Amino acid sequence: MTAAVSSPVITIDGPAGTGKSTVALRLAERLGFQFLNTGAMYRAVAMRCLEKGISFEDEESVVAAARELRFCIREHRLQVDGQDLSEQLTAHSVGRSASLVAAYPRVREILVEHQRDIARRQPIVTEGRDQGTVVFPDASRKFFLTASSEVRARRRFEEVGATSGASYEDILREQQERDLRDSTRSVAPLKPAEDAEIVDSSDLDVEQVVDVLARMVQESLKN
Ligand code: DC
Repeated sequence: MTAAVSSPVITIDGPAGTGKSTVALRLAERLGFQFLNTGAMYRAVAMRCLEKGISFEDEESVVAAARELRFCIREHRLQVDGQDLSEQLTAHSVGRSASLVAAYPRVREILVEHQRDIARRQPIVTEGRDQGTVVFPDASRKFFLTASSEVRARRRFEEVGATSGASYEDILREQQERDLRDSTRSVAPLKPAEDAEIVDSSDLDVEQVVDVLARMVQESLKN
């Protein structure tokens, strides 16, 4: 009997605004892997609830909305029910609501199943909050990206501030609230896996972070 061979999985976890998504995408391109943005999955659930007028306090309906969604990746972009919703999912209101749906254990179970299913089909670089701790404990290599909260809020503001209408101060305050909720929830709180490499990106640009990560991944995949 031959042992099942699983595709390589690289996990990148960390709070919002550390440049995780861009770093994960660039790393995936360099390695020839697909990029999985798991935050976009939580955002998709939140967006579906907003569209249907479901209250975020109505757990049953939120879980039912999560159960209806179908996901796959095409050219590094998450497809939700066959559609690329990347633009709509970055909206400020959707991000705020995503943190609420992410606190429901049953929503997490549904999305974790989708994440593992996607990883079974192709090598991936996946980013989120719980990828190294909960979803892929046996990942080939795990990273945890950090940066100071001011640097993170400034980056987020430059990325979405102008179009979302939110000020730097709004983003900083909401980010701090969200970080607190994400790191203190009872299920899959935001924290580094014990075997994750912690990388502080405050003083590094995207290419520098990708260089550091790519070097470490190549060493791990050789061994
Ligand atoms: O990274 P992001 O801002 O797109 O994530 C949106 C929300 O989803 C954020 O509040 C954290 C949550 N999230 C999570 O709980 N677990 C993940 N694997 C990814 C995101």
